[in-house]
Amino acid sequence: MEQIENARQNLLAEYEKLDDKTKILRSVEFKKLYSQIPALPPEQRGEFGQAVNGLKQEFEQKLASLQDSTSTKPAIDVTAPFDVNVKLTDQPQVLPASNGSIHPLMSEMDNLLSIFERMGFEAEESRAIDDDYHMFEALNFPEGHPARDDYDTFMTEEGLIAPAHTSTMQNRVLKARKERIESGETIQVVIPGRVFRNEDLDARHEHTFYQLEGVVVGEGINTGHLIATLQTFLETYYEKELEVKTQPFYFPFTEPSFEFAMSCPFCDKAGCKVCGQGWVEILGCGMIHPNVLKMADIDPEKYTGFAWGGGIDRLVMMKHDIEDVRHFHSGKLDFLKQFGN
Ligand code: DAH
Repeated sequence: MEQIENARQNLLAEYEKLDDKTKILRSVEFKKLYSQIPALPPEQRGEFGQAVNGLKQEFEQKLASLQDSTSTKPAIDVTAPFDVNVKLTDQPQVLPASNGSIHPLMSEMDNLLSIFERMGFEAEESRAIDDDYHMFEALNFPEGHPARDDYDTFMTEEGLIAPAHTSTMQNRVLKARKERIESGETIQVVIPGRVFRNEDLDARHEHTFYQLEGVVVGEGINTGHLIATLQTFLETYYEKELEVKTQPFYFPFTEPSFEFAMSCPFCDKAGCKVCGQGWVEILGCGMIHPNVLKMADIDPEKYTGFAWGGGIDRLVMMKHDIEDVRHFHSGKLDFLKQFGN
């Protein structure tokens, strides 16, 4: 294959002169070789073709190794704070834990959960990825139901859903406790979780925020229990007596559904910049729809329950007079350091 060897020499000479080395693969030298293949007698074509391809691969490898040595940096192991093989004295010092602080959303979540724990609730965390069944169907949003549009859900190409509310967990929580309910227990569960919505972002709207959901199911549970539970929780949280009121609302998964408001804990209904007119709408709630119970295989003729869901970010904003919800995920140390604990 003298011809191939000649071509290699020509290509090497050309390669040395090129500024942009990748141009070598488009050299006329290669074009000449490839154009000869069809004209060869069939029994020679295979061998010649392979030799030309081999030559091309040689140059491809040359280019790849060039890239390796110039632009590719060693991979960073994001899980390791330092190279564990380096001797102890050469390892960087990990910053002392006292330099960090608990994020205000997490310390508030702990606070809320401990109140509910004292009220006899179990806690179960929601998921970061879920499916259409738990996001909609199990919550009595039939296929094509217009209320689905109220939740601007993010969806993966495979059709999975980043949950837009913690209610996605209701079906699982109920199914897992069906036996306990049927043995006469009233189950009480709170579900903290991160939720995601395709929102237009501004000082009051984030694409990612936290919710706390609550589910109570048993025999003879009624709206009185709903109101008393939420009022007790809010009074414990704000450490003062509060008035509460409900207004009719619509959620597919509760019937009746309410918007729940409390008298403003900051001005006692006088009107202030938190509440405006003395009342603060705080969460959505209602009596669990019979179809939601049925979907969890619980008999709605025998058992009833209530549920609620509300945002955590807003509670924290009100408490600490934070004017922009986007601070929470900004990673700004100046913001976070104010909550040092
Ligand atoms: N999932 C609702 C939302 O994010 C809030 C909600 C309303 C939750 C009523 C509930 C409920 O459990 O019963 O908008």
